[in-house]
Amino acid sequence: MTYVKLPIFDQSGYVVVDSYDQSRDVREWENLVYVDWKSSGDTRFAPLASAYGEMECDGFWNHTPAKTDKDGVWVPKNVTIAPKLTERAREPGANIGRCRVIELQPNTYADAIYNLHRDDNNRLNPEGTGWIVRAFCNLTHNPESVMILREEKDDPATETRIPLPAGAQVVIDTQRLYHAVWHPSSEPRYCLITSYESGPELDTWITARHPIAVVPSAPVDPAHAQEAYAAADAKRAAREAALAAKGSDPTFGDGTLSADMSSAGMEVLSEA
Ligand SMILES: [Fe+2]
Repeated sequence: MTYVKLPIFDQSGYVVVDSYDQSRDVREWENLVYVDWKSSGDTRFAPLASAYGEMECDGFWNHTPAKTDKDGVWVPKNVTIAPKLTERAREPGANIGRCRVIELQPNTYADAIYNLHRDDNNRLNPEGTGWIVRAFCNLTHNPESVMILREEKDDPATETRIPLPAGAQVVIDTQRLYHAVWHPSSEPRYCLITSYESGPELDTWITARHPIAVVPSAPVDPAHAQEAYAAADAKRAAREAALAAKGSDPTFGDGTLSADMSSAGMEVLSEA
């Protein structure tokens, strides 16, 4: 038994689809209720759908009863504030788990490399059902910002950098690909992030939007990249040394954050 996955993700683990005309919509995200989710202090989240409809952003598996990242319950207050964003999230017609708007403060390439992580979307997901992937719909116009994707966490040769102008839409198997956003700006970035169950509904939505499985990477200055990698390595080493001093294993084997990291307030790394 295995999961239902869409073949279009086989090649690269992501697809870029047609951009959405963001200019035609009001900026609903400016009025949403954001939760100060435990993080490094540079993100907040506005839940549109949560595990049980509460104004919170915890993984569905951390609730009682625990559930997989499906059957999200709409959060009445934020749905009322953002009917268009809700409509967009529901457009594919696939089962939705977590659905939220992320607010990301500006960061550096080194920060983003340090933040590379994979998600835990399919915890408790029964085999034989659809694999959870996540759609990222950029709301603010951030043409200099990029979604960084890596097949191998420590191998820059596997990196793809996808630009994030307003309306950019990319669907990612975030449990397969390491990911993080580099957001060089003076203003925060806002993005609608929705967990979808793979199946015919999502396949139809993607196929109708001219999916591209491999896009050219946005350029990065090679010297700047080397500096960023070194800075990220140094930060990781410092983190691991600090955790080792506390007797904690900094990561699970697949690179996801351990409970110790979560309790240390590092949940920010579950998003992008
Ligand atoms: Fe993530």
